[in-house]
Amino acid sequence: MTDLLPSHLILPQEVISHAGALFELPNLTARFGVNGVIVHGRSLQASGVLDRLRDVFANPPMCWCHSGGEPTLAAVDALRAKIREHRPDWVTAVGGGSVMDLAKAAAGLADAPQPTGHYQRHPQEIPPATLPLIAVPTTAGTGSEATIVSVLTDADRGLKQSIRHPTHLPRCVILDSDLLTACPSFTRAASGLDAFVQAYESLTSIHATPFTRALSETALVQLAENLLPFYQGDNCRAAAMLQASFIAGVALSHARLGIIHGLAHPLGVRFHAPHGLACACCLPACLALNRPAIQPDLDRINALYGIDIPQLVDEWMRAMNLPNPFQGQTISDPEAVIRETLASGSTRANPVPITETNLPHLLSEIMGGIS
Ligand SMILES: [Fe+2]
Repeated sequence: MTDLLPSHLILPQEVISHAGALFELPNLTARFGVNGVIVHGRSLQASGVLDRLRDVFANPPMCWCHSGGEPTLAAVDALRAKIREHRPDWVTAVGGGSVMDLAKAAAGLADAPQPTGHYQRHPQEIPPATLPLIAVPTTAGTGSEATIVSVLTDADRGLKQSIRHPTHLPRCVILDSDLLTACPSFTRAASGLDAFVQAYESLTSIHATPFTRALSETALVQLAENLLPFYQGDNCRAAAMLQASFIAGVALSHARLGIIHGLAHPLGVRFHAPHGLACACCLPACLALNRPAIQPDLDRINALYGIDIPQLVDEWMRAMNLPNPFQGQTISDPEAVIRETLASGSTRANPVPITETNLPHLLSEIMGGIS
């Protein structure tokens, strides 16, 4: 008999989803205590939203601005030190995937004795988190608000690797579509394509269950309908995009992903490609590789919703005219890329087995030539 549920189902306790919900944060955090830390990105400060948020607290929280880029081990260590000094009752992350991953790792490891890099190398030693985390995404999205995972870059080793622990899952999630309206078009495209890839890869993963497939399919259909108009500036699509990316996050958290995410980390870190853009640029070639295994899903989605996924992806890539950071580049260490890709849990969840035989050809397709 097929199991309907994942063997370990883990969900946020509370999800508040409506425009303007960010300003419910004081009520939501009051149950944890009055002393808080808000981790945010630069744009929240520049837009004035951070000041307005601080103003609604009787006891304004300490704020920590992420310096930008995908989070490094050093950035997590710096925030952990600040959290230990401040002794907050709660941590809230208001930002894109980088801000959320930074805050998730720092809050989760706040009282852990070792530097963050130690837990990336020895994940079995991660102690349970004690601080509650509230996640408020400002992009749609990585789905990080729905997962136990933080993706962190080890700048010294030139590696991007995740750390994960069940207690790192955000306790509460606020989905406030007003926060997406200031999102620039490139971020809308890259993060939206990441969400779409996550819906698609979690749908076709070998670990998918009927429960996760229902979520993946719901998210995929919503993203297929709304991504391009949202990219073109239609803010009426923001709530659908935000909710779909959260739902895709719940799905991937339980079903894992596939080869696109297996490649996005090693290629992204080498060519300094933002995660969403890396996923988008790997999507067409990986979709073609998987086609024999996923044809029934492609046919079913087309028959039910009139969505031809490969054709839609082609149309998006043309309409969005995204820069491809990989095209025409040369990988200086292909053996290491192959080793890291094959070691990834995402790669191992791909519906077509990825091997030392088919991976070099796939890389060649993505790069337009591998040396
Ligand atoms: Fe992703």
